[in-house]
Amino acid sequence: MRYIEAGGARVSVVGLGTWQFGSPEWGYGKAFASGEALRIVQRALDLGINLIDTAEVYGFGASERIVAQALGTRRPEAFLATKVAPAFPFDPVIHRRAVASARRLGVDRIDLYQAHWPNPLFPPEPLFRALGRLQREGLVTHLGVSNYSLAGWQAGEKSLGGPLLSNQVAYSLVNRRPERELLPWAQDRGRLLIAHSPLAAGVLSGRYSGSNRPRAMRSVRPLFLPDNLERAAPLLGALREVAAAHGTTPAQVALAWLLHHPNVVVIPGASSVAQLESNAAAAELELSDEEQRLLDDESSRFSPRAGVGAFASALRTRIPV
Ligand SMILES: NC(=O)c1ccc[n+]([C@@H]2O[C@H](COP(=O)([O-])OP(=O)(O)OC[C@H]3O[C@@H](n4cnc5c(N)ncnc54)[C@H](OP(=O)(O)O)[C@@H]3O)[C@@H](O)[C@H]2O)c1
Repeated sequence: MRYIEAGGARVSVVGLGTWQFGSPEWGYGKAFASGEALRIVQRALDLGINLIDTAEVYGFGASERIVAQALGTRRPEAFLATKVAPAFPFDPVIHRRAVASARRLGVDRIDLYQAHWPNPLFPPEPLFRALGRLQREGLVTHLGVSNYSLAGWQAGEKSLGGPLLSNQVAYSLVNRRPERELLPWAQDRGRLLIAHSPLAAGVLSGRYSGSNRPRAMRSVRPLFLPDNLERAAPLLGALREVAAAHGTTPAQVALAWLLHHPNVVVIPGASSVAQLESNAAAAELELSDEEQRLLDDESSRFSPRAGVGAFASALRTRIPV
């Protein structure tokens, strides 16, 4: 495993996302939560993955509990990142939520505590003052944000009066918006971009098609509409081509493409230990500049249907939206 150091933290470049744990929307079922999920976490530690990402909202606390159960006495090996949903971004509320997350995680200190998304209804000061207090009191070590714009990230730092280690954002070959502002700034300031949904929820594994669609929540996501999966065919073709040259898989290439960018770490979710092992191995996969460029070009050409277009396409193909 490779590691990156930033702001006093040392995290594996490949982490583990755990939204899938105890969250019915993924359709993995109860047996997954009580069996494979635990083995995924333990194998992640064996392979040197220390960054484990969860959130209070995943399965309404179930994901945090499952992570705690899986870690057991191996807690010191992990760099635990969780998130607070800042619906009421005021000190007593945020404090209570952090204490509850720590309790579910079975820790007295959370390594990275992230604001899950910006709350446009309130100015940033109350939230970041509350988060700053958690840090001063030692309940959390590092603070971060998620789904923040650059202006929001900077305003957060100003209110906090200190660095926000990371911004966790959707970043993958099908969503390169973070490259416009967030990534150059993170690289310049020694911050981290934590790429969530780095496999576009599984699209970039190349496993799904119009006739093989995922179950549950993903079946109604625009990216998984047959029309959009068809539009992704040239990009998936490029991933397969590069994967074949390295004797590896499209998913590993999609992760390696992200990791080619300094200050980026990835937190893919996994539905099996085998996937977790494959994702961990992506840390060692180096793409050539030429391969990187080929993927850049194909990803720039990919234009999925969104909004009304996606809705109309779903109706034509009789998919519930
Ligand atoms: N901050 C936020 O707002 C936010 C939002 C979304 C996610 N996240 C975080 O980011 C993590 C990752 O995002 P995500 O889970 O949405 O999407 P993802 O990591 O892009 O995709 C995960 C899914 O891809 C498939 N997969 C994973 N590894 C694979 C492999 N090696 N080969 C083939 N298929 C593979 C699995 O689904 P199947 O096997 O069922 O196809 C898995 O559940 C989450 O767990 C969560 O921690 C944060």
